[in-house]
Amino acid sequence: MQEGGRVSGKVALVTGGAGGIGGASARLLAQEGAAVVIADLLAEDGRSLETQITEAGGRALFVRLDVTDEEDWDRAIKATLNSFGKLDVIVNNAGVSHRNGVEETTLDAWDWVMAVNVKGVFLGTKAAIPEMRKAGGGSIINISSIYGMVGSATSSAYHASKGAVRIFTKSTAIQYASENIRANSVHPGFVDSPMTRAHHDVPGINEERVGKTPLGRMGQPEDIAAGILYLASEESSFVTGSELVIDGGMTAQ
Ligand SMILES: NC(=O)c1ccc[n+]([C@@H]2O[C@H](COP(=O)([O-])OP(=O)(O)OC[C@H]3O[C@@H](n4cnc5c(N)ncnc54)[C@H](O)[C@@H]3O)[C@@H](O)[C@H]2O)c1
Repeated sequence: MQEGGRVSGKVALVTGGAGGIGGASARLLAQEGAAVVIADLLAEDGRSLETQITEAGGRALFVRLDVTDEEDWDRAIKATLNSFGKLDVIVNNAGVSHRNGVEETTLDAWDWVMAVNVKGVFLGTKAAIPEMRKAGGGSIINISSIYGMVGSATSSAYHASKGAVRIFTKSTAIQYASENIRANSVHPGFVDSPMTRAHHDVPGINEERVGKTPLGRMGQPEDIAAGILYLASEESSFVTGSELVIDGGMTAQ
């Protein structure tokens, strides 16, 4: 399966890896030579992707992981080490969206979004660092959003969660740079994925979002996976604490 071999010999764990941006990233990392751990709640989709990658000659393992559960993280890291012997890259990609404004957001909804989008990234980072230290370094790739950089008329909890991921990543980068553990955030713009499909199907929404995007199209999961591959590879060995915006020019205006 090895095409360019840009991440040959590396072991990468991708949360929310069963589909969408995480699925495209798992596929691309495997194509470029990494062994990938697909970690998600969605067992059927995750196992199916594991099979597809393996049948294409790649190395993949599905593990069921709830990113909010610290014991699940212990099991996922153990499964990674049992199958592939080490961990070099973690893509903290699992996330949930919630579109309500401040007054319409219940405390339960706020706590849910923060648990998956922020606590999940914290627990993943905390679980990965000891293994990266043993491996002599590593790359932590946290999926934020353009909504972690700019506001909008909706999605209060989501904005807050993605802003937290952005600055948590920089603090991780500074704390672990001396150990050659890099941490960067990725900021996708509007992307077609299972998360956004229902919203993009509402008449007018797709056109409105494309209309706001200077490059004049919706992003695809593969557009984001290409940036994740760069941050996972040695091509980005001097890159830490940075924000990779992949948004078709949306936040440049
Ligand atoms: N699609 C977009 O327009 C867009 C834009 C900016 C940022 N993002 C971010 O990109 C990331 C991936 O989103 P996507 O668009 O591929 O969405 P998606 O819904 O297709 O993928 C998210 C994945 O996370 C998994 N997940 C959810 N909760 C989980 C949990 N508790 N434990 C483990 N896995 C869990 C889901 O099962 C799913 O497979 C998210 O962090 C999202 O916020 C997406």
